[in-house]
Amino acid sequence: MKNVLFAASECVPFIKTGGLADVVGSLPQCLDKEEYDVRVIIPKYMCIDQKWKDQMTYVNHFYMDLNWRKQYVGILELEYEGIKFYFIDNEYYFAGSTPYSTERYDLEKFAFFSRAVLSALPIIGFRPDIIHCHDWQTGLIPVYLKDSFSDGEFYQGIKSIMTIHNLKFQGKWDIDTVKDLAGLADYYFTSDKLGDYDDGNYLKGGIVYADKVSTVSRTYAEEIKTPFFGEGLDGLMRARSNDLWGIVNGIDYTDYNPETDDKIYQNYSDANFRKMKVKNKVALQRDLGLEVDPKKMMIGIVSRLTDQKGFDLISCVMDELCQDAVQFVILGTGQEQYENMFRHFDWKYGNDVSANIYYSEELSHKIYAASDAFLMPSLFEPCGLSQLMSLRYGTLPIVRETGGLSDTVEPYNEYENTGTGFSFKNYNAHEMMGTIRYAEHVFYDKKRNWNKMIERAMKADFSWKQSAKQYEEMYESLF
Ligand code: ADP
Ligand code: GLC
Repeated sequence: MKNVLFAASECVPFIKTGGLADVVGSLPQCLDKEEYDVRVIIPKYMCIDQKWKDQMTYVNHFYMDLNWRKQYVGILELEYEGIKFYFIDNEYYFAGSTPYSTERYDLEKFAFFSRAVLSALPIIGFRPDIIHCHDWQTGLIPVYLKDSFSDGEFYQGIKSIMTIHNLKFQGKWDIDTVKDLAGLADYYFTSDKLGDYDDGNYLKGGIVYADKVSTVSRTYAEEIKTPFFGEGLDGLMRARSNDLWGIVNGIDYTDYNPETDDKIYQNYSDANFRKMKVKNKVALQRDLGLEVDPKKMMIGIVSRLTDQKGFDLISCVMDELCQDAVQFVILGTGQEQYENMFRHFDWKYGNDVSANIYYSEELSHKIYAASDAFLMPSLFEPCGLSQLMSLRYGTLPIVRETGGLSDTVEPYNEYENTGTGFSFKNYNAHEMMGTIRYAEHVFYDKKRNWNKMIERAMKADFSWKQSAKQYEEMYESLF
């Protein structure tokens, strides 16, 4: 039996801003419980729903030195669906209405969190064999493990893994500030460690010091060794390529199940979707004030509205696409230019475009169930979970061939009648539009083929089963 501790900045069902939370919340459930005692530690944000806070119990508290500061560290715990979750409490750092604020402030917050995680371990009496760190917010943990926590029996031999969910976000600031925030000596700020030109870089520290590094799809693991996707760290990724694993994400097949999902209007399965799925579309059209027409193709988008997701391509051709016989339902928040772009088209084509610029778990499920196709033309995509959710609900993804999108969506082949979605190669608005129009053609003129594709999509297995095995393999490779 090995002990594994997941350390991260977000985790479902407690707090979520993106796919990271889905992964951290669902993977621990799927690792072999006979072999691994997996627990999770995250910050106790003020913005966590009161419902969860009421269920947490106080474990202990202490004061921790971080450079010249002395900070309160509270520890709370909660067991949920058989997994133990720990929460680090500090009302100064974890206040606010969202988990993240400005980058400078977040750097201080997560230096505190990373050190608090390690300092808390003897107190909670859990000695992990492996600390599995997720994204830049926990990048200092592997560094601290080799630094101030390297002595003494308790910490000796603890291994660490750094999983990269998005290389774009690294957590960096000028070296003097980072030195002060992290409480690390000059020694660490050369270019082979945390030094990144004039900056100190948390994620780089994690990648350099972790025993293994992983990312969330096989293709992205290859892409980040190249300058375009490497975000300045491609050299380091190449240097660590022997220890770099690419393991594709899964999704929670219980939460995302069209047969039992209570957030959607009408349950359906891969056997009865031909009759039942469309009821979700009609009900959503009615609820969102769109023209009610069961035959009209509906394209869904559920996403952070950022450059990463390819929204500049959509903005180029949206007006043209709105001339077609399609409806667009958008759910997302993010960059103002994209929020306003969708609000504009909602205003201009009210019968066929519905822009919902907010966050809603419930509406997201309704869109996955109701739409015919799901659009995700990302510039880069480490894995992507939305296309997996769409596949599960028989909503065919239209994606750009990059990262995890390449690994999970098999493009339609009209000659062999294979595939689970549509894809295009170049980051080009008209190439995307051509692919969307091809999908429209299959939807309207080749219904049998479309339905066969739905069947294949719904039968494809993107649960954690296979990927959890690969994580276990990576864990075993450490010993
Ligand atoms: P990323 O992590 O890059 O944002 P993913 O596709 O991996 O992209 O995961 C996005 C997750 O966030 C999915 O579970 C998706 O349903 C959810 N999501 C994104 N925006 C919203 C929103 N506005 N409301 C509800 N869920 C959202
Ligand atoms: C990141 C990536 C996304 C991935 C998610 C979970 O947010 O942008 O592609 O699916 O992490 O790993």
